[in-house]
Amino acid sequence: MSNTQRADGIAYYPGLAGQRVVVSGGGTGIGEGLVTAFAEQGAEVHFLDIRKAPSEALVERLEERLAARTPGRVSFHACDITDTEALKGVLGQIGDIDVLVNNAANDDRHRLADITQDYFDERMAVNLRHQVFASQAVAPGMARRGGGSIVNLGSISWHLGQPGLALYETAKAGIEGLTRALASELGAEGIRVNCVIPGNVKTERQSRWYSAEDEAQIVAEQALKVRIQPHHIAAMVVFLASDAAAACTAHNYWVDAGWL
Ligand SMILES: NC(=O)c1ccc[n+]([C@@H]2O[C@H](COP(=O)([O-])OP(=O)(O)OC[C@H]3O[C@@H](n4cnc5c(N)ncnc54)[C@H](O)[C@@H]3O)[C@@H](O)[C@H]2O)c1
Repeated sequence: MSNTQRADGIAYYPGLAGQRVVVSGGGTGIGEGLVTAFAEQGAEVHFLDIRKAPSEALVERLEERLAARTPGRVSFHACDITDTEALKGVLGQIGDIDVLVNNAANDDRHRLADITQDYFDERMAVNLRHQVFASQAVAPGMARRGGGSIVNLGSISWHLGQPGLALYETAKAGIEGLTRALASELGAEGIRVNCVIPGNVKTERQSRWYSAEDEAQIVAEQALKVRIQPHHIAAMVVFLASDAAAACTAHNYWVDAGWL
């Protein structure tokens, strides 16, 4: 076993220990997997979410599970990331950070005929706008620390043209453009910006959209016959956050089990 591989099979990046990491929407779903993975690396993890109960329960679970290994600290910040001033306020309180994962989103379904201007603005706020303002808030601190890593969560949905998600997909398409532009603008300061594109990942929320039969159908359409779990996404995000990805920026990294 190499010294970058732990007994539990998780890749370990020594440089992440003690790094200050922020994850938006970290309380449940993929975000929970991200928070857990960074805590396992010994990072100082801060996550923002609107769901208090599961977020506080996650902190408790991680404190119990990781206490024996003297890991990094995990802090929950109750924050609605669509409130830009509140978002900036929380990020300002946390201080200079090394890694930002723009993960929070909401995939409510809608039909073109029902979209109003207010609904359009709300969908952009929850799925796209906060990625811009969180990046804006943390970039100067990352530059002061000599660099950093921003990972934006995109989505396979618009690449597949899935129905019922026009605004979510519009926002997710924009995130790929945002990633390219920010990577270019911030690269000289050592800040890397990448986008991770999940396929369909098994989370509590996805079970409201997909039955067991639907899930089996998705797996059948994938090249790899595995059900993607949050830890599969977290493995890629942690890699992109680490020094092992020192030359990786401005690109998309797919974790979709080859959904064709
Ligand atoms: N699960 C999938 O299959 C899948 C597929 C493609 C892309 N993604 C992307 O991965 C990321 C995580 O997805 P997920 O499936 O874990 O989503 P999820 O809905 O299960 O979890 C999202 C988290 O963000 C939080 N959140 C939502 N709105 C918020 C707000 N206004 N302020 C603060 N927190 C808020 C929620 O409380 C929740 O904890 C998202 O960017 C999503 O678009 C997921």
